[in-house]
Amino acid sequence: MKYPVVSMVCSVLFVAVNADIYLHSPRGSNNRHDENTRERRNGNRLFDSQNNERGGYNVGSPMKYYSGSKYQIEWTNQHSCNNANSNCELILQYMCNSDLRDGTRTNTIPDSEDGSKDQQFGMHEDYEYYLWCSLRERNKGLFTADQNLVNKHTAKYTRQDNQGKRYGYECAEEKDYYPYWQPSPWKDIAILTNNAKKCPYYQSESQNVKSRWGCYFSFENLKKAKNQIDNFPKKSLPNNKEDCEKTEFNGIRGVWKEFPAHGLPQPDCRETDFSRDNHLGNGLDGSPNLYNWTLPNIDETKCVFRIRYNISTEDYDSWNTTAEYNGNPTKLDLSDKYGLPSAEVAKNRGFVFKGNPNVKLFADANFELQLAVDTSQYGRTFQDRTHVFSIKERPDSLKGAVIHNLNVRGKRGNIVQVYPAVEYDFVPNTLNIMTGDYVHFQWTGSNNNPLNNAGQGKAGTDRNNALLLTSQLYPEGNDVPFGPGPVFGHYGNNYPSSLNNASFLDLRKTDLIQLSFLKPNNADKDLNNADPYFNLEPRQVTTVGTYHYVCTRNNNFSNRDQKGRISVTKFTMENGALGYMGGVMTSRDGQVVLIADQGVLDGLQKLTLEVWPREEGVRRMESNGAKLSIGEKYVSNFVVISPQTEITVLGKKFQVRMQTDPDASNVNIYVSSTDSSFSSWSKVKSDIGKDGVATFSASRGGVYVAKSDSYTVLIISLCVSILVIFLIAGGGILYFRKNPNKWKQLKESTNLVKRSTQDKV
Ligand SMILES: *[C@@H]1O[C@H](CO)[C@@H](O)[C@H](O)[C@H]1NC(C)=O
Ligand SMILES: *[C@@H]1O[C@H](CO)[C@@H](O)[C@H](O)[C@H]1NC(C)=O
Ligand SMILES: *[C@@H]1O[C@H](CO)[C@@H](O)[C@H](O)[C@H]1NC(C)=O
Ligand SMILES: *[C@@H]1O[C@H](CO)[C@@H](O)[C@H](O)[C@H]1NC(C)=O
Ligand SMILES: *[C@@H]1O[C@H](CO)[C@@H](O)[C@H](O)[C@H]1NC(C)=O
Repeated sequence: MKYPVVSMVCSVLFVAVNADIYLHSPRGSNNRHDENTRERRNGNRLFDSQNNERGGYNVGSPMKYYSGSKYQIEWTNQHSCNNANSNCELILQYMCNSDLRDGTRTNTIPDSEDGSKDQQFGMHEDYEYYLWCSLRERNKGLFTADQNLVNKHTAKYTRQDNQGKRYGYECAEEKDYYPYWQPSPWKDIAILTNNAKKCPYYQSESQNVKSRWGCYFSFENLKKAKNQIDNFPKKSLPNNKEDCEKTEFNGIRGVWKEFPAHGLPQPDCRETDFSRDNHLGNGLDGSPNLYNWTLPNIDETKCVFRIRYNISTEDYDSWNTTAEYNGNPTKLDLSDKYGLPSAEVAKNRGFVFKGNPNVKLFADANFELQLAVDTSQYGRTFQDRTHVFSIKERPDSLKGAVIHNLNVRGKRGNIVQVYPAVEYDFVPNTLNIMTGDYVHFQWTGSNNNPLNNAGQGKAGTDRNNALLLTSQLYPEGNDVPFGPGPVFGHYGNNYPSSLNNASFLDLRKTDLIQLSFLKPNNADKDLNNADPYFNLEPRQVTTVGTYHYVCTRNNNFSNRDQKGRISVTKFTMENGALGYMGGVMTSRDGQVVLIADQGVLDGLQKLTLEVWPREEGVRRMESNGAKLSIGEKYVSNFVVISPQTEITVLGKKFQVRMQTDPDASNVNIYVSSTDSSFSSWSKVKSDIGKDGVATFSASRGGVYVAKSDSYTVLIISLCVSILVIFLIAGGGILYFRKNPNKWKQLKESTNLVKRSTQDKV
């Protein structure tokens, strides 16, 4: 019985309750405005981040993104996800509204209607929303553990914040719980969770698709009620149908009303990526944990993005524990889980869910250890939000185009000065695109970073530019050839290539000059006189190649590197992060579709679907010395699914649909699934429709291609002719058996023929 007890203590001790989340791309404010201090000035400015006061990026000029463009969201979270140490959810949302604003100062917007209109103050949620939340009865069915919420009746008080502190106009109850049961202005993008089995629940409960009901009060009535409730803290406005319809609040009555769903697709939901505890850094593969967001098709000048990070302990079933367990100590019975004979024993030995319990490790000896348990933080939501940006409708010239945002993250300073923010980098650091796609270079920054932060150019200022690097000068050991196509610029160099010569993404010279100097005739080598904001509208890329570029101002070899890579291919390369929920990946031309049903993949898989045009596939095969058998012919493009290993749960398969030449006959799908050297091929069971669409199932990645096999046809027809010959011959034998004289005659005549030919020789 002792072992489980000790292991429980350890597991509890590991749950250090500090964890933060910082958004780096897009830049998160962590409540900063534009202060030049290392610490942000006011953590209550717009939202409750629960983060360290040093995080965040100053406001810049608003970023302008195009609707439907591709955005790589990057953050660091300090505790852990996809890791047994805690439950973790990341909830990605946005909101747009013409009233959103960054404001011009660091103070919190006042708790009054007049104050709410003062443009000096930043505002996300609006005042009516906050008023309603702060007056509405809180959800009393929630588990609040041993937190003191006596006489704290409204939704601004929660287990995590029993003081009801105000953070802009955010609603504390909404911040702490998801999916939230009351209407919220936030639109869901994605939920990443340790337990993807909860995804169907999240997706169907999301306000994107499901309406909310609430007890509605007009703004006027809310303002009246505020005075009443401020004076009588025991009061609150009803939050349920029965009370809403029944009660009158000093002459004010609510209306039980439906608030429609946002009318958006259900959010994406998948597993979180792995991250380790106490580490604000990269994920398992050495690059930042990220989410690829395709921006919605909207036309809004004012939007903000928000990421929440919810961690909860596994010491109790947090999703199923309700108010019936509240109390000090809580009524949770931990005895069963921790191997103690009864609730009574558990309680006597300190295995109770309350603040800082002392646990007795032995039944018969008085050794106690104190556990750092803060029930307001066992289950805690962290948050970061961006400054205001726009998502604009595209001009006609960009309709239908694939646009990739290329931005800069980080701020001025060395790693210690900027932490927990990050140093400069391009985002995505490596961008993979197809010919014909557009790249949208854009970045922003501040002129007001702490004056002593390290960096080039004028103290305190952020500036960036982007120039192609010079090409490789010397061979490098173990040179890794970065493909595809020709390589432009070399990562190992630090000098930019001459603008006379630079072949950088088909950019015209005027664009190259802008990207380098940020504005016309800028003679300032440090770019000080340019704006920290830069926008080179989207530019189309048509030349295959791998481009390496640098920011001349911030790249300081021994201190900070600011370089990026863009790879341009001619063919589809789709990336997907698919997990338990499965999903669909489709090639750009729609001719190849990969479908993984729910439960087919076990855990998060980063899949790539590439489609090589036939010539490209053949070229690669031939350069690897692989040949077709006699009579074989390719009758489809090459579909490459990576990783080229088993990727499904044992016994389950994903489906692939691919187009083959409709007029080809005897088509079979083959896979070379060991590597890309095409050394061994095996046939895959497939159905080919009349339209030439082949459907097959597979459990592993590999190179898939359809071949038609005229050799088999040849062999079959050969067999048939041999058979016919045998039949004829057989018939002859029978004939001669029946007529032996004829056989004799024939033999003699052939002998004559033989002899006569020999004579001639
Ligand atoms: C955080 O997790 C708890 C369960 O521990 C859940 O009740 C709550 O709704 C979650 N909140 C958010 C914002 O995800
Ligand atoms: C809550 O408890 C029910 C019944 O025991 C169980 O089916 C469900 O999975 C639990 N929910 C969570 C989120 O653990
Ligand atoms: C590069 O960094 C070094 C070391 O911090 C510094 O001395 C130098 O001034 C920097 N270069 C420029 C051009 O600022
Ligand atoms: C310009 O490019 C040509 C060929 O592409 C090369 O031979 C030449 O050295 C380059 N000049 C400079 C200044 O980089
Ligand atoms: C996101 O997109 C980039 C390409 O821009 C890709 O390299 C990466 O694998 C994708 N990541 C996920 C998690 O989908």
